[in-house]
Amino acid sequence: MGKLDGKVAIVTGAGSGMGRASALLFAEEGAKVVCADVSGHEKSTAAEIGGNAMAVHTDVSSATDIKNMIDTAVTSFGKLDILFNNAGISGPHQPLEETDDDFLDTLYGVNLKGVFLGIKYAVPALRANGGGSIVSTASAMGLVGRKGLAAYGATKGGVVALTMAAALDLADDNIRVNAICPGMVYTGLAGADAEGKNPVPDVELPYAMKRFGRAREIATAALFLAGDDSSFVTGVALPVDGGYLAE
Ligand SMILES: NC(=O)c1ccc[n+]([C@@H]2O[C@H](COP(=O)([O-])OP(=O)(O)OC[C@H]3O[C@@H](n4cnc5c(N)ncnc54)[C@H](O)[C@@H]3O)[C@@H](O)[C@H]2O)c1
Repeated sequence: MGKLDGKVAIVTGAGSGMGRASALLFAEEGAKVVCADVSGHEKSTAAEIGGNAMAVHTDVSSATDIKNMIDTAVTSFGKLDILFNNAGISGPHQPLEETDDDFLDTLYGVNLKGVFLGIKYAVPALRANGGGSIVSTASAMGLVGRKGLAAYGATKGGVVALTMAAALDLADDNIRVNAICPGMVYTGLAGADAEGKNPVPDVELPYAMKRFGRAREIATAALFLAGDDSSFVTGVALPVDGGYLAE
């Protein structure tokens, strides 16, 4: 018996990295999965899962696309139980005054507004379902500062604050809202290929566990927060970071 048997889940950023690993794991655990991404790689993730998945081309910074993504899940699979707002982009490490203003709009549009829109437009479907679980990918950089990452860190800190406030707004609807704060994980953002076939580089990193996390190690945390094993957990930002934040 799977941990998500009978559930319908949407995963954004499902074409690569943590989103791809999570879509595959959610399906292994019995969920029907809508794989959403802007890259086109959402199609190969859905194809790998097979009949219990579908791909929906989605730019999470677009309210029109988000509404279409949620409508498609409900129309195709009958309901929505889980939304994993995972899509995200990073940017250059640089002094904050060198941040390009147009890039700032794009970064906020994807990493923060995209999560807000996901939550906003999923609520009616989750409410109609009697409740559900929303998980978002923030970052360790949303909980502490890092030199050169002011713009990215601000988007992820925003996701943490949004998670706590949304958990309060939605508790009476039986909708739980949580976030994952990954540390350094070897994915597309760290130079991996979309399907994660490249070996994780054997480098020593400057924190307790010293190694890159693997996308699957974020997917297992997402599974916990998405499913009923975390039925009394809401409003948390869970570090999954190999001890990065412990120092
Ligand atoms: N890799 C890390 O070390 C790390 C650490 C902390 C947080 N994160 C966060 O993890 C999440 C997943 O990233 P990842 O590391 O798996 O990287 P990734 O690049 O492998 O995957 C991100 C996916 O999001 C998609 N995406 C980008 N913009 C989009 C948009 N506008 N609409 C829809 N999809 C879009 C990309 O096409 C890609 O498939 C992101 O939110 C990222 O900020 C990553």
